[in-house]
Parts: sequence; C-alpha cells; structure tokens
Amino acid sequence: MGAATGGPVRPTPVWHGSAGVLTSESLGETGGGRGGPGSFRRLTLRAPEVAQAARPGQFVHVLCPPGPDPGRAFLRRPLSLHDADPAAETIRLVFRVVGPGTRALAALRSGDELDLIGPLGNGVFPVLGDRPAILAGGGMGLVPLLLLAKRLVREMDRRAVPAPLTLLAGVSGSAELALVELFEVLEGQAEMAVASEEGAPGTVRGLVTDLLETALRRAALRWARRPAVYACGPRPMLAAVQRLVEKAGVPAWLSVEERMACGVGACRGCAVPVRGPARYRLACLDGPVFGAEELDFAETPPGEAEKTPTGSGGERS
Ligand SMILES: Cc1cc2nc3c(=O)[nH]c(=O)nc-3n(C[C@H](O)[C@H](O)[C@H](O)COP(=O)(O)OP(=O)(O)OC[C@H]3O[C@@H](n4cnc5c(N)ncnc54)[C@H](O)[C@@H]3O)c2cc1C
Ligand code: FES
Repeated sequence: MGAATGGPVRPTPVWHGSAGVLTSESLGETGGGRGGPGSFRRLTLRAPEVAQAARPGQFVHVLCPPGPDPGRAFLRRPLSLHDADPAAETIRLVFRVVGPGTRALAALRSGDELDLIGPLGNGVFPVLGDRPAILAGGGMGLVPLLLLAKRLVREMDRRAVPAPLTLLAGVSGSAELALVELFEVLEGQAEMAVASEEGAPGTVRGLVTDLLETALRRAALRWARRPAVYACGPRPMLAAVQRLVEKAGVPAWLSVEERMACGVGACRGCAVPVRGPARYRLACLDGPVFGAEELDFAETPPGEAEKTPTGSGGERS
C-alpha cells in the first residue's frame, strides 16, 4: 500500500537509549492517583531522537525498571507515542497500571532514566489534512490519537484548507474520563463527543461506534469531501468500525492492540489476520496501523484466546 492508503511507509530511524524522566503524573482519581491498579499515568521523557522521528501511530518499546513486584518484567512493554515535541525534544507516554511492568513504570520519578527503543512501527496514520477527519478511540485506544490530531491540525493549517476535525471517544465509565481530558488541549480546534457504557456525566450512553455511525451519516450531508476515519481500540471495536466505513465508502486506518514480545518482527508473536494471499502481517513491523480494507476480522489472531482487553469502548461487535 502507498502512503495515501496507509500500511508500511518509509521506515523511520529507530533509536535505542536511555530517556530521562522529566515528569511523572497521575491522571484522574482512580487507583488512589498514586499508581494503584487501574490508575492512569503520564510520563514526559527527554528523548530528542524519538521526538524528531515520531509519526502518529508509532510506539516505543520500554524496558521496565525493577518495580514493587519481585524480579522485573523481563520483556519490553509497548506503549504508544501519545505526544512528541521535536522543539522541546520530549515525548509523552500515557499508560494504565495493569501488571508488573506498568506498576514499575508508575514508580518512576523525575530524574530517573528509562531504557527505550523507538519509534517503532512502519504502519502509521497518514496525516492527510486535505479533508475532514474523524478520529475514534476506545479506552486506551485514545492514547495515540493526540499526536495524530495535533499533526492533522498543523497540516490543515499549512494547507489553509478548512477541514474539520472530529474526535469521538469511547470509555467504559467515569474513571476513563481522565483519558478524554487529555484532549482538552485541542479546544477550539476539534469537535468532540464522548460515549460511555455506564452513561457517565457529560457523555452519551453507548459505544464509540454509535457516535461514529452518526458522524458518518452527518458527514455525507455536511461535507462535499469524504472524511478520513482513524481509529484505535479493542478488536471488536475495530471490526465494527470496519463495517461502518465500508458501508459508508470512506477511507480508514485502524491501529491494532496486539500483544507483543520482541516488537521488531523477530518472534512473529503479533501476527494479525489480513485479507488476501498473505493471510497474516505483523502488528509490530507492518503495523500497528493498517488500512481498514486490509484487516480480516473474521479470522482469530493466533494467541487471541490468551488475551484480555486493556481498553474499552466499542467492544460490542
Ligand atoms: C502497539 C501497542 C501500543 C500500546 N500502547 C499502550 C499505551 O499507550 N498505554 C497503555 O496503557 N497500554 C498500551 N499498550 C498495552 C501495554 O503494552 C500493556 O498494557 C503492558 O504491556 C502491560 O504490561 P504489564 O507488565 O503492566 O502487565 P501484564 O502483566 O503484561 O498484563 C496485564 C494484563 O493486561 C493484558 N495485556 C497486556 N498487553 C495487552 C495488549 N496489548 N492487549 C490486550 N491485553 C493486554 C494481559 O493479558 C494481562 O491480563 C499497548 C500495546 C501495544 C501492542
Ligand atoms: S512482537 Fe515479535 S514479531 Fe511482532
């Protein structure tokens, strides 16, 4: 696939080294706000090489330091690039504390160092900027959409094309609203709607895919140019997005949340079923972003049975 349709594009230089922790913040009220189970944290790291090369949809592979659990998380853990500022030479990561690796990351403090490799992933979100864009994120799938939204706004400004940006967020309940607050920096630059399964205050009860269905219907009436859809979230959500965009006939790119081990294409543990003769592609190397038309949601990825979702919003298939 070419750059206009997603899939692998020109590989970016990959850096391996020690990134300095500038800030480590808790987000929202969950987990006592101190790195407890289910809490959300944001790390700001000094990583000039990664900040320069970062493209929306890419991730870094972090070596978690020894944490509160006995031993340490042996394998690196993949985390999406939430934000990247080449001028400030910083990147931002946002994570939910779910196990030993993220518990150790939650214990990092300003002045600590974090061993990371990145940016990784050759399948990235294309920054079109020449048409309306609809971004849909479910749960932790919201994390990579901030960098994408910022780059789209910049590209739309550069082209002086008034192309509206719509952000649709799906959360399970009020605890996940901390993830939605991360997008307040886009105020005045994007329209936003939030769906939650429990009908949390300020949200529409339902799924992010319900919001997307409505947004696509409105887009056909409002805009001469078909929008581009960008989505990240759990597999059932992405399958529903694929059905909606195919019905509406709009281009879309989906970022998958496969479990990863090596992160660089060596172990083949992150195979994703795709349509066509190739049958499988690797989330870490070929993705994590794929053109919506590529992915085959009728097939179960190898190892799917072992997975439990880390995010929410749109799980109804
Ligand atoms: C490309 C990519 C980007 C990611 N970006 C982020 C991010 O920005 N923020 C974030 O919080 N998390 C993100 N994740 C998930 C993150 O990597 C895991 O939450 C983390 O590795 C868990 O490590 P742990 O040692 O704390 O927990 P573990 O003990 O390894 O896992 C705890 C629980 O989470 C489940 N789990 C772990 N990874 C996944 C996964 N990928 N999909 C579904 N279930 C999983 C496990 O089955 C287990 O039930 C991303 C994953 C991928 C593949
Ligand atoms: S994680 Fe090893 S090949 Fe993708």
